[in-house]
Amino acid sequence: MTLHRRKFDTLIIGAGGGGLRAALQLSQAEAHVAVVSKVFPTRSHTVAAQGGVNAALANVLPDNWHWHMFDTVKGSDYLGDQDAIEYMCRAAPRVVYELDHMGVPFSRLDNGRIYQRAFGGQSRDFGGDQAARTCAAADRTGHAILHSLYQQNIRARTHFFDEYFAIDLIRDAEGVVLGALALEIATGEPMLIEAKTTLLATGGAGQLFRTNTNALINTGDGMAMALRAGIPLQDMEFFQFHPTGIAGKGMLITEGVRGEGGYLINAEGERFMERYAPRAKDLASRDVVSRAIAIEVREGRGCGPSRDHVLLKLDHLGVEVISKRLPGIRDTVRTFLHIDPAETPIPVYPTAHYTMGGIPTNRFGQVVVPEHNGPEEPVQGLYAAGECACVSVHGANRLGGNSLLDILVFGRAAANHIVGFLRENRYHRPLYEASVDQALQRLARWERPGRGETVDGLRRELQRTMEDYCGVFRTEEILQQGVARVTELERRLADAGIGDQSRVFNTARIEALELENLMDIALATVHSALARTESRGAHSRVDYPERDDLHWMRHSLFYWEGRRLDYKPVRLKPVTVDSFPPKERVY
Ligand code: FUM
Repeated sequence: MTLHRRKFDTLIIGAGGGGLRAALQLSQAEAHVAVVSKVFPTRSHTVAAQGGVNAALANVLPDNWHWHMFDTVKGSDYLGDQDAIEYMCRAAPRVVYELDHMGVPFSRLDNGRIYQRAFGGQSRDFGGDQAARTCAAADRTGHAILHSLYQQNIRARTHFFDEYFAIDLIRDAEGVVLGALALEIATGEPMLIEAKTTLLATGGAGQLFRTNTNALINTGDGMAMALRAGIPLQDMEFFQFHPTGIAGKGMLITEGVRGEGGYLINAEGERFMERYAPRAKDLASRDVVSRAIAIEVREGRGCGPSRDHVLLKLDHLGVEVISKRLPGIRDTVRTFLHIDPAETPIPVYPTAHYTMGGIPTNRFGQVVVPEHNGPEEPVQGLYAAGECACVSVHGANRLGGNSLLDILVFGRAAANHIVGFLRENRYHRPLYEASVDQALQRLARWERPGRGETVDGLRRELQRTMEDYCGVFRTEEILQQGVARVTELERRLADAGIGDQSRVFNTARIEALELENLMDIALATVHSALARTESRGAHSRVDYPERDDLHWMRHSLFYWEGRRLDYKPVRLKPVTVDSFPPKERVY
């Protein structure tokens, strides 16, 4: 086996919107940038984002970034860090106009301005009437953004390593990150990429759950790499279930459907969200709507022969609106359900969608960890942005339309910080070969024949376990069983194999490495969920139904070593404006 070696100023792992936005900023600043992606960049999961990106442009209704900030803090159930939220909401209009100038084909109003639709949890005037803040390119906004960013990167001469899988970070004895070991999927050859700075932008871990909206590639690779490098994962107990996945299958039906006027009904034809959220109704925040659907089904008001879903009605919008604003949804529903949503309501149920937790960062994208119970210190040479990071702008519950915003704002912010770092750190640090050997060991482990169980079987069992033991509603007893089951699955994975090396494709090895990553993330999630004895945002403990601000206004930090949990306070102080103190959250 030959170990190929390359050197760059910055290594970016992941080619979704966060990675590509950062890469563009760096390439334009003349940095020597490499992007490693396990799929061709335009297949990254950002391509699947439908409804849009939030920015207080006030194109349709009055708006300003301070209202956007209030909604995001409230949506986060007051666990979001208010300095980062302020930064994101203030930067939003600028990043959207930048995209517009890069060529993103946003939908337009008759006056030529960017089209904006209503999304959940949006208000005017600090909790007043519904706002319309989500800038959309029909219902294919992520697709439009990702393709434009990729084209701009090609123009800026960013270097891409397409279909390379990142194995592990390389660190020196002092913990400074020096790059990463990657594997070329087609040849199975490892490649060492040394870099003065490394940015993780690998997305979320939706593949933890059986029914999810995520691409198969969303296996939490960057988060698991961070964990193995001794970095804790923050707030992993908060996993978002999107209210409207296709029932039993999981494909995303955008919140934009409700933003355009669609609504949910139960078996009695009742518009039940009016009971749960009298003011916002179907556009309450996602945790509220998902719980309402789960309760309707649990109490016997579900639809269909098994009474296991509710219906999303949009036929009243008319074919013209549906074709113009929601063409992708019509295609998806026709393809997977063989019905036309312009005529027949869509069967939906909450489905795993978004990892609120992740690698702890500050608002400059630097990975930061508490030092011996003291203040947070940046991990030298390491940055993270997007869904794999926890900055934390989403806290306990993300608002729809804030994920595309997060990747763009913090991809850009991380790149700006890196540019400053590179100006002052012109040389590569000496390589630490022991760390390279350790990363190579991870590969070697999958060259041994296994003792029976298949990776695919274990992955399915993990997904079922997470769905059954760490879903929308949680209790101590169920979570304890979840911890025991995932721990047992981890033990069984140690004995698994991928069969005769001469007969399997390299992708089998990639799937095994991905499952190791998922297993680490699953452990972080169930342990963190068991420890948090309150209900907040997406973390709903039936045995602790109230939010407990006295004890739990703090972020969890899960360390891989010893499966240890630690905590740090929420940053309630924004940079330039007054903070929004916690209060009861009603919609
Ligand atoms: O419903 C959606 O279109 C999803 C948007 C998001 O997760 O931000």
